Amino acid sequence: MQDNPTYGNYKGYYANRPFVNDPRLALLPPNFFREAVVLDIGCNEGRVTCQIAQQHGANHVVGVDIDPDLIRTAWRRRRTAWSLQEPESDFYHNDGRSFEPSQRNKHTAKGQYFPQAMEHMFGPVAIGESTPEDQTEFPHNLTFRTADWVKDGILDDEHGYDIILAFSISKWIHLNEGDEGLKQFFKKVFKFLRPGGKFLLEPQAWENYRKAKRLDSTMKEVGSTLQIRPDDFPEMLKEIGFATYERLGTTREGGGERPVDLYTKGLT
Ligand SMILES: C[S@@+](CC[C@H](N)C(=O)[O-])C[C@H]1O[C@@H](n2cnc3c(N)ncnc32)[C@H](O)[C@@H]1O
Repeated sequence: MQDNPTYGNYKGYYANRPFVNDPRLALLPPNFFREAVVLDIGCNEGRVTCQIAQQHGANHVVGVDIDPDLIRTAWRRRRTAWSLQEPESDFYHNDGRSFEPSQRNKHTAKGQYFPQAMEHMFGPVAIGESTPEDQTEFPHNLTFRTADWVKDGILDDEHGYDIILAFSISKWIHLNEGDEGLKQFFKKVFKFLRPGGKFLLEPQAWENYRKAKRLDSTMKEVGSTLQIRPDDFPEMLKEIGFATYERLGTTREGGGERPVDLYTKGLT
């Protein structure tokens, strides 16, 4: 992958961002991801994707990114997250005699139980074969794929998703593919959401496009043709078929105010 990050495929993207608890996820209602099948488009190094799979009780989470180097880092991130997780333990009943397998459930597993230094000193903890029972538990519930999701898509798409995330990626799709490409992207998200499915979008502001356009002459050219603005997205997504729209809140990570918007597909 080229050094010029024309897809927003920055290396070290999370160096100056919260390491463990992403503030965008904190804006969501409790149990938002519980037992859901989730797609994280433009997952970068898989930080947010790992957090959803490990700490939010999702049944299956797929992270997709166009950059194979980032996906390799994301697989490593999965192993690190597993290595730092609180071990499962058996516990005794109050009578102190009998015991049964842990009642710790996957929704409350501590992701930062061991210090990071443990993995550096002893290497990552091996991930065992998955059994039919633990397929919806971290780390078996998490997978990563390399693909240009806008143009190609991935195998998992055919089963559909309960939740699709597009955090800080709409600008890159817009500048690479133009107004029509962005519209096709939104249509595709709608298509692969199951009835009642949710689309979480963190759109970048129009002011942020200027700097990105300087990265590449094609992007500059495409950028000069754009008629659609991020403020138009709610109307555009309504036309595509989304039934409801809500601004969940804003964060201040990554420079400036960043909104997180929730769109819901109707049940029919
Ligand atoms: C700025 S980063 C955002 C990372 C992450 N979503 C977050 O907000 O923490 C944008 C990511 O989208 C990826 N990306 C851009 N266009 C893509 C496409 N067409 N298909 C898949 N990934 C893409 C980039 O490689 C990059 O990792």
